[in-house]
Amino acid sequence: MLAILFLAIHLITHLTGQMGVQSKPNEATLMKHLFREYDRRARPKKDPLAPVNLAVRVIVNQILLVDEKKQIIETYVSYNMTWKDDFLTWSPANFSNLKRLVVPTNNLWVPKLIVINAGKDVSTNTNDDGFAAEVYSNGEVKLILATTAYTTCIFDLTLFPFDKQKCELKLGIFGHFCSEVNMSKYDNELKFLWYTPHTEWAVEGSSLKEMAYKDGEGSYCTLDGTIFIRRKSLYLVNNVLIPCVLISFISLASFGVPPESGEKISLSMTTLLSYSVFLLVLSEMLPRNSDTGPILTYYIISVMAITAISLLCSVLVVRLHYGTSKPPKWIRLLVLNYIAKLCCQTTKKVSPSAKVNESMGESGQFEETWLKIGRTLDRFFAIIFFMIIMIVSLTLLVVIPAMNST
Ligand SMILES: *[C@@H]1O[C@H](CO)[C@@H](O)[C@H](O)[C@H]1NC(C)=O
Ligand SMILES: *[C@@H]1O[C@H](CO)[C@@H](O)[C@H](O)[C@H]1NC(C)=O
Ligand SMILES: *[C@@H]1O[C@H](CO)[C@@H](O)[C@H](O)[C@H]1NC(C)=O
Repeated sequence: MLAILFLAIHLITHLTGQMGVQSKPNEATLMKHLFREYDRRARPKKDPLAPVNLAVRVIVNQILLVDEKKQIIETYVSYNMTWKDDFLTWSPANFSNLKRLVVPTNNLWVPKLIVINAGKDVSTNTNDDGFAAEVYSNGEVKLILATTAYTTCIFDLTLFPFDKQKCELKLGIFGHFCSEVNMSKYDNELKFLWYTPHTEWAVEGSSLKEMAYKDGEGSYCTLDGTIFIRRKSLYLVNNVLIPCVLISFISLASFGVPPESGEKISLSMTTLLSYSVFLLVLSEMLPRNSDTGPILTYYIISVMAITAISLLCSVLVVRLHYGTSKPPKWIRLLVLNYIAKLCCQTTKKVSPSAKVNESMGESGQFEETWLKIGRTLDRFFAIIFFMIIMIVSLTLLVVIPAMNST
């Protein structure tokens, strides 16, 4: 009796279950219906001569790495693609009102988008199982892929560390001509919908252009994206630029040290050495590019040269300071009259004839004159080098950044 009851219940549930499947088509039914004769290798067009119109939106999610040495920029990019698949259409009324399906990309035709100017990994992982496309009942397919793009980029480091760069991201469709897959842009620029800012580079803007390259029987459609980035220079200004400028002013201090102390020359030597440390730090950061050198390198080299010349001048001053012989007339005239006047130094005017007679007496007089000459020259060189360093540093810190920001 119990067995018969169980059998009856089993029979009833089995029957109703089967009826349910038959009366209510689900996603599986729809998939079977759509993909029974589907060939994912073929372009999804019923009219063989009609192009597949593909709209692409390029979304930059993050700048991962900007490598000036390898001339590569690494970005994480999403590609939002939309096209129409003539074979993936159904009437929702016949399939429980299902209007859209999510289909893994390895089941349907997907345009193979590639990065043309890639420095590594051309593919955008188009057929990875990890992605799924949305398919709508009218045949519209929407797919978002995401992958790392390694694109080559030519860096112009002339204005380093106030430089701006533009890097290109060129996309193409593997194999198909424009007349087969007509790729068009969805926006006029790259999009930064989910962008995470980079700590060293700021995005200034972008552009996206449709291009076509003629080749033999047809032309290939490409999308040429450009991203404009600006270096955030705070780190380099604080760690390289400002110390460099400070040291260049410290090198002036050697003119203030009296020759008797013997430290005049060693101070200049120390500043010279510290510049070479900065040159080393810079060469760590920059590519060994001999086309265009950064202005900062030229700055360091020129202040190094100025310091070296000022070192020679210090040697000259020290040498004059200990002079004992009779100072030649022209030196006394030049230094004690003209240069002293230039430096606004108040020394009593020397009349050459009177002085010579006066200094005929003893060598102590000569030494006195040499001392004066040394001191005047010290002052003169300090003023001259201060002006030179001021001009060079202002150019670097004010003029170049101002020029670049316009
Ligand atoms: C992707 O493109 C479609 C248009 O084809 C648009 O409706 C959708 O909002 C886009 N998605 C994103 C995240 O941009
Ligand atoms: C939908 O179902 C009706 C009736 O079963 C049928 O006539 C029609 O051809 C079906 N439409 C599609 C697109 O399969
Ligand atoms: C591609 O599409 C654009 C509009 O999206 C159209 O102007 C152009 O003529 C199309 N090219 C081909 C080859 O169909």
